[in-house]
Amino acid sequence: MNTVIVEQLSLVDFRNYEHAELGLAGGANLLVGRNGQGKTNLAEAVTYLATLGSHRVSVDAPLVRSGADAAIVRARLAHGERRIVLEIQINKQGSNKARVGGAPVRTAELPRYAQVVLFAPEDLQIVRGDPSARRRFADQLLVQRTPRMAGVLGDYDRVLRQRTALLKSARARGLRAESLPTLDVWDDKLVALGTEIIEARARLARELHPPLVAAYAAIAGADHSPELEWASSIAGADPEEDDDATTALAAGDTAEAFRTALAARRSAELDRGVTLVGPHRDDLVLRIHSLPVKGYASHGESWSVALALRLASAQLLRADSMLGDPIVILDDVFAELDVDRRARLAGLVVDFEQVIVTAAVEADVPDGLRGRTVRIESGRIRGVDDD
Ligand SMILES: Nc1ncnc2c1ncn2[C@@H]1O[C@H](COP(=O)(O)OP(=O)(O)O)[C@@H](O)[C@H]1O
Ligand SMILES: [Mg+2]
Repeated sequence: MNTVIVEQLSLVDFRNYEHAELGLAGGANLLVGRNGQGKTNLAEAVTYLATLGSHRVSVDAPLVRSGADAAIVRARLAHGERRIVLEIQINKQGSNKARVGGAPVRTAELPRYAQVVLFAPEDLQIVRGDPSARRRFADQLLVQRTPRMAGVLGDYDRVLRQRTALLKSARARGLRAESLPTLDVWDDKLVALGTEIIEARARLARELHPPLVAAYAAIAGADHSPELEWASSIAGADPEEDDDATTALAAGDTAEAFRTALAARRSAELDRGVTLVGPHRDDLVLRIHSLPVKGYASHGESWSVALALRLASAQLLRADSMLGDPIVILDDVFAELDVDRRARLAGLVVDFEQVIVTAAVEADVPDGLRGRTVRIESGRIRGVDDD
């Protein structure tokens, strides 16, 4: 089989684990334990190795066990007959250190070795939360599919911060656009990097649509015609300030539209000291029944959309990755779902090569996913037969 799975996860001073070893198998793995024992921490550790990020925090410090200076997450991956050990040392101070097979590598290399799709209760925020939650969802998937995009997104953020700082200082000094020649330099960089992001996100939305439609129908048991479309700040939408913003970017020269939008908003930007157009102000609008999910969909429908987005992501990664199936992690999601959605979700993920499920109540997890079971108790991992 040509798929990457995690065989062994080793933690040192990660969250509430002083030292832990977790053996995992292909197929379904179930981690059970009462709330607050460390189930999500394990899901987070595996996800961190594959994405260099956590779904719960945007900084690393909380990942390091309180009182310790550094955490280590190590995973032995099996890829057919090959075995490879990934390791990251997460330092409270200073930069993190990564190793592959014992040899130091840049941390940015790690996501090339494994792919993870994590389903979590926080996913409801993708459909119900602020535009930033949807941008984060899309950008994470972009980076997983095309690791090079991590650099583009990082560079865009840096340029955005510097350009915005320039606008702020110009405002403070009462300067006008004509007396800010360096602004043009930042505009060029913003447009070059931003255009690449906007176009990649648009492609992603197009490619995600067919698997989203299929996944939604399979989860909800009904066809509500889910759609996804970017509301574009360079086309005149302002989703950050207008909840119903929907204007999509017409086909054509994205960079040209970006430059035109910057010119149109220049005086407003100088008045407010904010960069008002660009991918950092766009929103991935989700609709079912032709209505925006946010503000219109029921709780159950919103969950179906959130689950369908994750399932569709897993399908895309499965279709285009050299690594085979992504590792699918379902962290405490069954408790959130009614019995029908539970059964349908289980049926849809069960054929991925490796599935890791966490639950407080074993009975919430459909039969097909109650594979190898491990108990989690206050930062300790115990085989189900251990005492
Ligand atoms: N950096 C940390 N140091 C020590 N304990 C932590 C740290 N971060 C989280 N914890 C503890 O981990 C526990 C939560 O673990 P979690 O995996 O979220 O539980 P659950 O089993 O409910 O998913 C809490 O008791 C919390 O105090
Ligand atoms: Mg949890």
